[in-house]
Amino acid sequence: MDSMNSSQSNPILRTENLSVQFGALMAVGQLDFQIYPGELFGLIGPNGAGKTTVFNAITSTVPLSHGDIYFKGKSLRSLKPHQVVTRGIVRMFQSATIFPKIPVMIHIMNGLSCRTKSSVWNSIIRPPSFHKEEQTSRQRARELIQFTALEGFEDHAAESLSWAQQKRLMLATALATEPRLILLDEPFAGMNADEIGEMIALIQAIRQDGMTVFVIDHNMKVMQRICDRILVLNFGQKLTEGLPEEVAQDSRVIEAYLGGD
Ligand SMILES: Nc1ncnc2c1ncn2[C@@H]1O[C@H](COP(=O)(O)OP(=O)(O)O)[C@@H](O)[C@H]1O
Ligand SMILES: [Mg+2]
Repeated sequence: MDSMNSSQSNPILRTENLSVQFGALMAVGQLDFQIYPGELFGLIGPNGAGKTTVFNAITSTVPLSHGDIYFKGKSLRSLKPHQVVTRGIVRMFQSATIFPKIPVMIHIMNGLSCRTKSSVWNSIIRPPSFHKEEQTSRQRARELIQFTALEGFEDHAAESLSWAQQKRLMLATALATEPRLILLDEPFAGMNADEIGEMIALIQAIRQDGMTVFVIDHNMKVMQRICDRILVLNFGQKLTEGLPEEVAQDSRVIEAYLGGD
């Protein structure tokens, strides 16, 4: 839709020769792509194609073997994972909850704490600014809980939520860090059609808010429906890239998919 305009602006994320090698395995090789501000950019490919590794590289959870990644024109190389979050990139994990016993509200407050100045020291001496900040955080946490339809579950342990609710909690926690770019790794996995519909609506709302979204999924139908552009990865290499309808009709993509699944 707005991919016409976006191609005239500078990319928010750009990779150059992105390569990640694990021993003899080239998990991602010499990958170049650009994502423009406000885009909903998709990454698809068969199992083991290297999709999650691309996210791991962006978030500095695996080292690059070669190449570089630029966010708003600045290299992410050599940053620590938490520094990537501070720059404005956050990821929603493929697995469910990271802290099963921790209540919903605490998860979200923890995400928020990456932007607030609250330190251990401040929480002990509690200056006036601390109370103000905590109030703002609680207000924001309530908004996120409402946004992800988790009202009434604030004090529930994350593990007691349904799978789809846990995914929405992960999304709320990611959003709490106030990202400019959000990475979603298989956000629809294990969901029924209604739950997928709810997750799509959330992603579209986030995007309306001006955020850039980078999503990985297997589900070609869903990806075709929501993405502005799609990159197809096979054996760690770019197979093709383009508008959803172009990609879906590409015989190499169809072959990689039928061969892979
Ligand atoms: N930390 C790692 N150490 C060694 N091999 C890995 C590691 N992470 C991923 N791989 C391998 O890299 C390849 C790509 O994995 P991954 O990026 O998870 O694929 P996808 O998300 O597309 O299914 C796979 O062969 C996988 O086994
Ligand atoms: Mg994966």
